[in-house]
Amino acid sequence: MTQWHDVGEPGDFPDGASWPVRIAGQDVAVFRLGEGLHALADRCTHGLAKLSEGYVEDDCVECPLHQGSFDIRTGEARCAPATVAVRTFPVRVVAGRVEVQA
Ligand code: FES
Repeated sequence: MTQWHDVGEPGDFPDGASWPVRIAGQDVAVFRLGEGLHALADRCTHGLAKLSEGYVEDDCVECPLHQGSFDIRTGEARCAPATVAVRTFPVRVVAGRVEVQA
C-alpha cells in the first residue's frame, strides 16, 4: 500500500541539488529542477552507489561511482554503464509541505 510521506518544505530542496530522505524503509533522493520536484530511488541500478551523492547536470544525475546517468524526471538510464531505469516516486506539495508517495 502506498501513502504520502512528508519530507520537508520546498525551500529544503535547492535547485540542481539532491537530498536524501528515508521513507517507508526506502532510501529516496529528492531533486529540484527549476520549479519541479522529483524523487528517485537512492540507489544506482548498476551498483550500490547513492544517487543523492551524484552530480546533477542537464536534468540528469550522474552516479558518483562509475558515472552512469539517469534522467531525473523519468528515471530512465541515459549513460552507460547504467542501463536499467531507476524507480521514480510521485512528489507533490500540499499546504507548503513536500510529500513523496511510497
Ligand atoms: Fe552507478 Fe556503477 S554504481 S554506474
